[in-house]
Amino acid sequence: MASLGDLAPGTLKYVESGDTPIVLARVGDAVYACNNVCAHQGGPLSEGKLSGARLACPWHGWMYDVRTGQCRFPGRGARVASYPVRLEGDDVWVDLP
Ligand code: FES
Repeated sequence: MASLGDLAPGTLKYVESGDTPIVLARVGDAVYACNNVCAHQGGPLSEGKLSGARLACPWHGWMYDVRTGQCRFPGRGARVASYPVRLEGDDVWVDLP
């Protein structure tokens, strides 16, 4: 699905699997995957800003925890789907439901 070499620590990458838009987030040595569509008004999360595990939507700044997809501010209780990630060598795989 993606290569670890294309995903430097602290960066985001947009990928798709079938009809599912996904944002990959590299936090240290870990990679997390969430749905790319913001729960507020559909902003593209892969174009947002990643600080540690916090991802800010580029449109209005809603903040998500990329480890869980949970919105932390200001839309508490909102979330985007998060998906398990497998790393196999340099390959990044996302397991969709
Ligand atoms: S669309 Fe993401 S914060 Fe509004």
